[in-house]
Order: sequence, then structure tokens, then C-alpha cells
Amino acid sequence: MMPGAVFKITLFMTNSTYFPIDKLKEGETPLYYYDLHLLDETLDAVKAAASYPNFHVHYAVKANSNPEILQRIAAAGLGADTVSLGEIKAAVTAGFPAPKIVFAGVGKTDAEITTALQYGIGCFNVESKAELEVIESLAAEMGVKAPVALRVNPEIDAHTHHYITTGLAENKFGIAMTMIDELVDYCIKSESLDFRGFHFHIGSQVTDLTPFKILCERINSLQERLPDIEIPLINVGGGLGIDYDNPDSNPIPDFKSYFDIFHENLKLRPGQQLHFELGRAIVAQCGSLITRVVYVKEGVGKKFVIVDGGMTALIRPALYQAHHKIENITSNSDIEERYDVVGPICESSDVFGTDEPLPLTKRGDLIALRSAGAYGEIMASGYNCRPLPGSVFSR
Ligand SMILES: Cc1ncc(COP(=O)(O)O)c(C=O)c1O
Repeated sequence: MMPGAVFKITLFMTNSTYFPIDKLKEGETPLYYYDLHLLDETLDAVKAAASYPNFHVHYAVKANSNPEILQRIAAAGLGADTVSLGEIKAAVTAGFPAPKIVFAGVGKTDAEITTALQYGIGCFNVESKAELEVIESLAAEMGVKAPVALRVNPEIDAHTHHYITTGLAENKFGIAMTMIDELVDYCIKSESLDFRGFHFHIGSQVTDLTPFKILCERINSLQERLPDIEIPLINVGGGLGIDYDNPDSNPIPDFKSYFDIFHENLKLRPGQQLHFELGRAIVAQCGSLITRVVYVKEGVGKKFVIVDGGMTALIRPALYQAHHKIENITSNSDIEERYDVVGPICESSDVFGTDEPLPLTKRGDLIALRSAGAYGEIMASGYNCRPLPGSVFSR
């Protein structure tokens, strides 16, 4: 089968009533295409796999805050994990109930904390003693009790790219295990803090589930160390990875194995609630960046396909050396060539792929970068004064 054929069928035949390829060709590229059917299927799979009564999934808004996507996820009944006031507002606007919103991040400002308290969000995931003191004093001024969970740095290597590992002592996130007892005590004695429990997040794009099992063991020993402390909730963060190489054969992550790791290894106390914060695993596979070939350039010993959307539309390859499957979705050629697929931005890192096998490619062809629904559109920038990419949906 010619490369890209599966994608053409999924994208343009399944959804042809709603978004035919002719219309895509007329569209202003680069643009993000979202397959909402796949998003719905993914949400169904998450909910089925996490159906234990005390499991609650919060969608990590940072992965993609496109209103259409957010509304769909809110309607499916998930909560929201946020890291800024902007994300809280986007979540509320999309229909997430405030008590199902949690708020993490190392640098929450006074204005963000105050507004989050006014909204009545479910929990602050607190990252330092300094932040805890500020939340306490702002809550006291407002005459409310702030619900807080302490973000613990579990010192676990998630074996992912070092820019997206978060649970090591060297990372800026979370509170060291050695400081936890003191801060729990502080929370419990405070009149303005409501201690809810502990929050963890080891990193992103974690494909080997072993680090999650180690996380369970760390949480078990922490809980055993604090037998007399009431801990209503444990939040294990997100991080489940996806298959960037095989988006068609593996469009929905193995949620069952992921949730079962926690079900089988975490010793929850009676009545204790377990929160998850999945981002990438929910939205990555439903999105593709569609970009147009501006030139095919003959280099020395290689050919470049220069497309109109580069690192400003999708920064992951430049930022994390990530690779997205690249497909020419309009070429019908049986001839396969090797190309370096690059963007138009004035940076040498603006490369989507080297030596990529593609059907014979010409100016005007449409190129899809698959699995771009997470950390794609949301990270787009206006560098080089380029407009932000738009978005289209299957319905
Ligand atoms: C605290 C926290 N929770 C959840 C997530 C979502 O991670 P992922 O998209 O890998 O599931 C992140 C991502 O960086 C995070 O920092």
C-alpha cells in the first residue's frame, strides 16, 4: 500500500461529507484538522477503563485548549487540570464545573489564586511552602478555606525526553519528600487551608508503564509513613504516552493497562479518591497539522520539501526532537522519494523530518503531520510575524 493511503481513507472518506479534500485544498494552511469522532471514541475508552468508582480523570487543558475540543471533553464528564487563570477561564467557559477543576503550576500569582478561590475550584496543587503561605493568607482575607494538595516530587525517572520529565529532584516541580511532613502539619493547623492530599506528576509521553508502578510504591510508603493523617485524595498526574509512529494502527492508547497499574498497585485507603490528569493520551491522535508544500528544493545529495507551516505551527520537533508521522495526502504517485521536510522559519531547527519516504511530492501538495492534537495548536507562536494556524473539524 502506498504511504498515506490509510490516512486518506480515514480523513477524507470517512469524513468526506463534512470536510472533503477539495475544501482542505482551498483552506488557509497551515491549519489543524481534528477528527472529533476519534476524540469521542478516545473519551469513551478512557471512561470505560477508569470506571472504578473512586477514579476521576481530569483533562490537562495545557495539551489543547481549542474551545471545540474542551467543550467535547467537558460534556463527556471529565474534570479539568489547569496551570493558569487563562486555562481556568477556558475550562469554565467550556462547561467544566469549578469543583472539578484543579490548579497546578509553580508560579501562581496572587490574582490567579484569588480568582480561583472566587470560582470555587476543587483543589490547588501546591508546589512550595512559599506558595502555601500566600494561598493561606489570601484565603484568610476572603474568609474561605482553600482546598490544597501538596505536589510531591517523587524522584522517579520517567525515561522520557529531559524537557518533559518532571519528577526528578533536579526539576523545578513539586516539594521534596523530606519537607512533606512539616507542610502537612502546617496545612492541618491552618484555619484557612483544607488539606486534601498529595499530587504527583512524573513526566509526559511515558510509554513504559514501569515508572507508574514505581510511583504507586512511593505513594504507598508515603501513606504508610503518615498513618494518622486524613488524606482524602491522591492525584497521580498524567503522562501516559501515545504511539507517534503508528497513529492508524494504534489510535487509542492502552488506557486499561494504565489504569489497572494504579488499581493493582496503589494501596488506597477506604473512601480515598484517585485523580488522574491526562492530556496527550486524550487529544494527541485526533489532531493533524495540515500544511502545504511551497517548494521542492534540490539540495546537495538531498531534496527538501519546504512547507508553509513550520515550528511556529508545531514546535514539538524543534523543542523536543519529537517526530510526527509525515504523510502526503494529495499525491497519487506510486514513485517513492526521500525528502527532508522543513518549515519556512529562519531557524535551523525548523525541521519536521529527515530522509522521509514520501510519494513523489510537488508544489501545492498537502502534507499532514499526524498525532498533533496535543501540544500542537496550543504551543503555536507568531514568531516571524506569522499568523496562528486555524482549525477545522470533522462533525
Ligand atoms: C502537573 C501535570 N499534570 C498533567 C500533565 C499532562 O501530561 P500529559 O499530557 O503527558 O498527560 C502535565 C504535563 O506536563 C503536568 O505538568
